[in-house]
Amino acid sequence: MKISASFLSSYNIAADLIRLNDTDVDYIHVDFMDGKFVKNKTLPFRQMKHIYEYTSKRLDVHLMVEKPKKWIAKFATLNTEFITVHIETEDVLSSLEQIHTYGIKAGLSLKLETPIEEVVPYLPYIDLILVMSVEPGMGGQAFQEEAIKKVKELKKLLKKYKAMIEISVDGGINQDNAKKLKDADILVSGNYITSQEDFQKQIDCLRGRL
Ligand code: DX5
Ligand code: ZN
Repeated sequence: MKISASFLSSYNIAADLIRLNDTDVDYIHVDFMDGKFVKNKTLPFRQMKHIYEYTSKRLDVHLMVEKPKKWIAKFATLNTEFITVHIETEDVLSSLEQIHTYGIKAGLSLKLETPIEEVVPYLPYIDLILVMSVEPGMGGQAFQEEAIKKVKELKKLLKKYKAMIEISVDGGINQDNAKKLKDADILVSGNYITSQEDFQKQIDCLRGRL
């Protein structure tokens, strides 16, 4: 199980990124919000881009924006492994194709109410599906149990289409629900890691090592 750490709820992003860099976390999950697709806004890109000064981990970028194209080009300049756009945005296919032109893996995210079948037309164009287990827009929310069933069904659907696509789950992840998400390849976790003193211990708990 890979872990992607979100710093959305961090009070001191630089300090938390430095501490995360000393753990075996797989990716840094970068939540980016425009105040339109979701109500909240994150740091502007001109500040966000400085995260590379504090981490050598690959970035897992989650764009919660109405118009992803401009932001894809910007995040492509960083040490980025994945860029994920929401299926509920415009020109999804063209965003996915744009991500691949930079040699970056393309992800597609689904809000809680979006049925998994909607990913089918995009399967040939994606490397990752990010299943939201909270309403996007904020860290520290409670995990919605319906995501467990959704992940299981998504796994079956990907098998049916013989699609080699990673499944990631984002929002309210903790040690208990992590055990029920064995079909996922990546778990995104913010508060469960960054609200505690020992980041590595939290990551070990999510991986089921402790
Ligand atoms: C929610 C974000 C998540 C969130 C994860 O909109 O996409 O990445 O910050 O944080 P926790 O684990 O605190 O829910
Ligand atoms: Zn996220």
